[in-house]
Amino acid sequence: MKALSLLSALAIFSGVQAGVPLEPENGKIYFGAWYARPNGDTPAAINTRVGKKLAMFQSDFNITDTINEGNPLQFLQQMDETKSDAIMYLTAYPMYGFDSVTDKAIDDLANLVANVTNSGRRVFLRYASEMNGNWFAYGRQPRKFIDSFRKVVTAVRSKSKPETVAIVWAPNSSNGYPFANDPAKYPYPAPLINSSHPDWDILDTNGDGQLTVQDDPYSPYYPGDDYVDWVGMSQYHYGSVFSDKYDAWVDNSLPNGDQIHQMIRGGNNKTLYDFYGMFCEGGKTNASQGGKPFQLTETGSTFHIRLRNETEYADPGPGRVAIKKAWWEQFLNEAFITQFPHFKAFNFFEFQKYEESSLRDFTNLGPNPSTLDPFTGAQIVNETNAVLDAFLADLPNFEMHLIWGNDSDIDSKKPKQNETAGGNGTGQPNSPSGSVNLSGAEGSRVGLAAILGAVAVGLVGLVVV
Ligand SMILES: *[C@@H]1O[C@H](CO)[C@@H](O)[C@H](O)[C@H]1NC(C)=O
Ligand SMILES: *[C@@H]1O[C@H](CO)[C@@H](O)[C@H](O)[C@H]1NC(C)=O
Ligand SMILES: *[C@@H]1O[C@H](CO)[C@@H](O)[C@H](O)[C@H]1NC(C)=O
Ligand SMILES: *[C@@H]1O[C@H](CO)[C@@H](O)[C@H](O)[C@H]1NC(C)=O
Ligand SMILES: *[C@@H]1O[C@H](CO)[C@@H](O)[C@H](O)[C@H]1NC(C)=O
Ligand SMILES: *[C@@H]1O[C@H](CO)[C@@H](O)[C@H](O)[C@H]1NC(C)=O
Ligand SMILES: *[C@@H]1O[C@H](CO)[C@@H](O)[C@H](O)[C@H]1NC(C)=O
Ligand SMILES: *[C@@H]1O[C@H](CO)[C@@H](O)[C@H](O)[C@H]1NC(C)=O
Ligand SMILES: *[C@@H]1O[C@H](CO)[C@@H](O)[C@H](O)[C@H]1NC(C)=O
Ligand SMILES: *[C@@H]1O[C@H](CO)[C@@H](O)[C@H](O)[C@H]1NC(C)=O
Ligand SMILES: *[C@@H]1O[C@H](CO)[C@@H](O)[C@H](O)[C@H]1NC(C)=O
Ligand SMILES: *[C@@H]1O[C@H](CO)[C@@H](O)[C@H](O)[C@H]1NC(C)=O
Repeated sequence: MKALSLLSALAIFSGVQAGVPLEPENGKIYFGAWYARPNGDTPAAINTRVGKKLAMFQSDFNITDTINEGNPLQFLQQMDETKSDAIMYLTAYPMYGFDSVTDKAIDDLANLVANVTNSGRRVFLRYASEMNGNWFAYGRQPRKFIDSFRKVVTAVRSKSKPETVAIVWAPNSSNGYPFANDPAKYPYPAPLINSSHPDWDILDTNGDGQLTVQDDPYSPYYPGDDYVDWVGMSQYHYGSVFSDKYDAWVDNSLPNGDQIHQMIRGGNNKTLYDFYGMFCEGGKTNASQGGKPFQLTETGSTFHIRLRNETEYADPGPGRVAIKKAWWEQFLNEAFITQFPHFKAFNFFEFQKYEESSLRDFTNLGPNPSTLDPFTGAQIVNETNAVLDAFLADLPNFEMHLIWGNDSDIDSKKPKQNETAGGNGTGQPNSPSGSVNLSGAEGSRVGLAAILGAVAVGLVGLVVV
């Protein structure tokens, strides 16, 4: 806590918070999609289906001792194929834990980002998302998370111009926190949490000797304002009744009308903490001064197509269109946008995937090349355009708030001439091994942030260790 207030104090002195990368004016929202790359969907195909170019596309890859698991270069290529200036939204998963992430891989990641930004495309980078959950090997280890996150941020910022890359810090929304100790459920589970967990002291925020919904599910993982440009969270609707039989949500039902609002603001018994107040408005805790733009990093309302071990399709309940429309209308409406002026981006999660105990359709911009039926191997549903048609019909009600992509001929293999080589505007093409002298970045937010960061890390080291 003390270390964090030092960080904040440094931030105030330096004026570091001026000019958040990629932040649009209030009331303007980037419209993006996390596209089903493994299933053969593409950004260009989504643009064709929607009839307009989206402002950003998300995809993921894993980072260990390499960044090549997940074929990031295919992602770059598919971004170029949109012939647009869409922002590349990189999600990097340290899927096998922080200990397996090497400095070399972090350097490669920074070089990859620099290659993209030097070509003229802007980047959102989301590293180790949902780090407060129990379903990833890197989950629930705040000290290792913060250490690794800061390393990644420092490396990336040292090689790209400040205004071209925005760092996103994004825990899972906290309903269900601290999530069960059920490692058997996940292929790469987080360590168990009990009082011998090495970070127990900072996880048990109220010091009552147990980890419960009363403990702050966010702040222990916050790397500090200097290392974060945007904040966001994953938000989904899975169903209304937890099924013991399937050990998951499997019912097709409408989300509560204020579900997203409650996840952002807290205030019900499952989510006590006010995320938006803490990180966007600020002044609520010592973790952050606030002022961060907010995004729904990945979001969707689930339609369960088929349940585990059942041959029949699931009961559609109120129907696929109604379930999805009731979700996007929660945040794409005038009242919500007015109430949350820092809300400035969202990504629809455009996947159909077999997850937990059902084949789930999260998509809004389908039909897309869908998952195959795990039982028959055939295409599972006779998809229609119904959800996309409903979305397009609704669009005039909120389109004035959306930011679209623009025509552009960016080639991520070609650095633009006269663009930065790595932070200081020398006009050199990016060199993968090039390093940057931070002193050259005078006046830029990143240069200062990185330098202060290094100082702050030293201070944190003194306080925490
Ligand atoms: C990352 O690793 C997980 C676990 O091995 C794997 O399921 C997933 O497909 C990998 N992601 C990518 C993009 O390759
Ligand atoms: C960056 O681009 C250079 C030149 O095209 C290429 O040699 C290098 O492999 C790229 N680095 C990454 C990490 O993609
Ligand atoms: C407590 O958690 C640690 C890991 O954090 C684990 O190794 C240990 O088995 C757990 N102990 C119990 C009794 O669950
Ligand atoms: C993440 O957040 C969602 C709500 O957005 C919640 O329902 C869920 O339990 C959390 N965990 C997982 C694994 O999604
Ligand atoms: C929330 O928790 C309080 C205290 O435990 C309890 O009195 C109240 O009924 C709960 N509210 C809901 C909606 O569950
Ligand atoms: C912030 O830190 C100060 C000084 O350590 C402390 O007095 C105050 O209670 C803290 N505020 C919050 C909201 O934690
Ligand atoms: C039900 O499905 C699960 C997961 O696919 C499988 O492990 C289990 O054996 C199945 N049970 C029956 C009775 O088919
Ligand atoms: C799929 O849907 C289309 C139109 O909704 C319909 O014409 C066609 O018969 C359906 N095919 C199957 C195999 O159900
Ligand atoms: C597209 O151009 C408009 C008008 O200049 C701009 O406001 C918007 O931010 C651009 N879109 C993207 C993705 O940058
Ligand atoms: C770079 O910029 C300078 C000055 O604006 C211009 O003279 C030169 O032609 C540019 N070089 C390239 C390769 O575009
Ligand atoms: C960085 O730049 C400063 C000022 O230009 C210079 O004094 C310093 O020696 C440089 N450091 C390195 C490592 O090149
Ligand atoms: C930019 O960096 C290069 C090498 O990294 C250095 O030679 C050059 O002097 C720097 N330019 C400025 C304006 O600081």
